[in-house]
Amino acid sequence: MSYQITIEKTKNPKQKPDEHNLGFGIHFTDHMFTMDYTEGKGWHDPKIIPYSPLSLDPSCMVFHYGQAIFEGLKAYKSVNGDILLFRPRKNMERVNISNERLCIPPIDVDFAVEAIKTIVRVDQDWIPKSEGTSLYIRPFIISTDPYLGVRPSNTYKFLIILSPVGAYYKEGINPVKIYVENKYVRTVKGGIGYAKTPGNYAASLKAQMEAKEKGYTQVLWLDGIERKYVEEVGTMNVFFKINGEVITPSLEGTILAGITRDSTIELLKSMGVKVTERRISIEEIYEAHEKGTLEEAFGTGTAAVISPIGELNWNGKIIQINDGKIGEISSKVYDTITGIQSGKIEDPFGWIVK
Ligand code: COI
Repeated sequence: MSYQITIEKTKNPKQKPDEHNLGFGIHFTDHMFTMDYTEGKGWHDPKIIPYSPLSLDPSCMVFHYGQAIFEGLKAYKSVNGDILLFRPRKNMERVNISNERLCIPPIDVDFAVEAIKTIVRVDQDWIPKSEGTSLYIRPFIISTDPYLGVRPSNTYKFLIILSPVGAYYKEGINPVKIYVENKYVRTVKGGIGYAKTPGNYAASLKAQMEAKEKGYTQVLWLDGIERKYVEEVGTMNVFFKINGEVITPSLEGTILAGITRDSTIELLKSMGVKVTERRISIEEIYEAHEKGTLEEAFGTGTAAVISPIGELNWNGKIIQINDGKIGEISSKVYDTITGIQSGKIEDPFGWIVK
């Protein structure tokens, strides 16, 4: 696509938040990107405009049937002032995987990366510089036909908003307590688990709330058929280190193909660590703990990067992992990925896009 992105700058820049107390997804920058899709015309009118509420008909399909997708990635400013994006193409390729599942027309990946670069450049003064902070980029697509019949929409909006963020979990990189979910499931094969679509997150809330009431930060999702195999942890992919080998559930249609998951696998392999993608049962994890070979467990995701798991509760059987402390692999992966992302460590993988 060779469209020009029109840019309308705000006349009322907002006050920037305190970098040391950002939280996650609370503050939004001065501008946003929007582009429309109309059947027969394709994607059109890409523009950057002042951040503002949307005016949408209450009958818009997204409000009723949830035909929508989203993404999440981060921008950093390096010490020498370069703006760094982490694997933005991967996210935009994943948009089209989600789009395909949700019957949303594909976007042009190169153009979408260009749109991200443009909006981040416009709001570059909003990129925080303190340790552990970044500018979170949230691209998303919503269906906008004003219509209540159930079918794919003929019109859509693609938006990108930006949020300066700190740690996702209040625990930061400290281990979290995880409840092994045995009542609710996130998805099943043939479902929408591999797509980054709001319905997956809506479906996860009840389990998360009930785990919170029991004193746990998140849940460990088991497969939807047998409640046997481990799938994800909260909104993150999950890794276990057993007897020196790192194991993560294989992507078989129910799990989101995380970009931090992919980066973690590549990084660990480059460090000479044995990494295996395969089904892993919760019994196997508990047995490994019993034998003393369960060395570490952690989640990976864009928002938190790495979130070590310090405790699991499966049907009342509580185990501590690595004595509830941060493991060696978790901290190495966290330090290396965030170091590469922020430009403090040289990137040997070609992940960084300036
Ligand atoms: C992530 O871990 O990056 C997520 O997907 C969480 C996000 C929905 C806030």
